[in-house]
Amino acid sequence: MAAYSRALARAAGWEPERCDLLEMAAPMHDTGKIGIPAAILKKPGKLDPGEWDIMRTHTLIGHQILSRSHAPVFQLAAEVALGHHERWDGSGYPQGLIGSETPESARIVALADVFDALSMKRAYKESWSIEQIVANLTDGAGHHFDPRLARLFIDILPEILSLRSQWEARDGDVLAWSQHLPA
Ligand SMILES: [Fe+2]
Repeated sequence: MAAYSRALARAAGWEPERCDLLEMAAPMHDTGKIGIPAAILKKPGKLDPGEWDIMRTHTLIGHQILSRSHAPVFQLAAEVALGHHERWDGSGYPQGLIGSETPESARIVALADVFDALSMKRAYKESWSIEQIVANLTDGAGHHFDPRLARLFIDILPEILSLRSQWEARDGDVLAWSQHLPA
């Protein structure tokens, strides 16, 4: 998802150095989850409303941790951690920011994060088809996602998919290699 964030930032017109910074900052978006009890993080069923309230604080905790450093990469990571669950229409959290009140960095990572989750195959689910993902991005434009960024993401989908296959190939190599390790 770091590479997707970078590609989308570049498509949105960011300077190359800032794209590099976002690629480094993006994987830290869920840092605050270290402050969430394991019983909630790993709960197999649905969270109840009280548990959701606690879960949502991972944005604030992440921001608190990351903003302690004044290094530009951590400042950007703190901004992303705080804003990556905000939604364009104001229905997100923790602040319910509307539209461009959420920093663009966080709006970019929100898209990359959702794409990553939908396109990834998990033990409990198949990955979504590209058509389903495009439909989700289109439906979410203007509600969940920044409409301009959602359109750009669809425009650069061939590049995004090629980044994804590079990662899958790398994962396959690691798996093949690990099978040669002594038990
Ligand atoms: Fe999150």
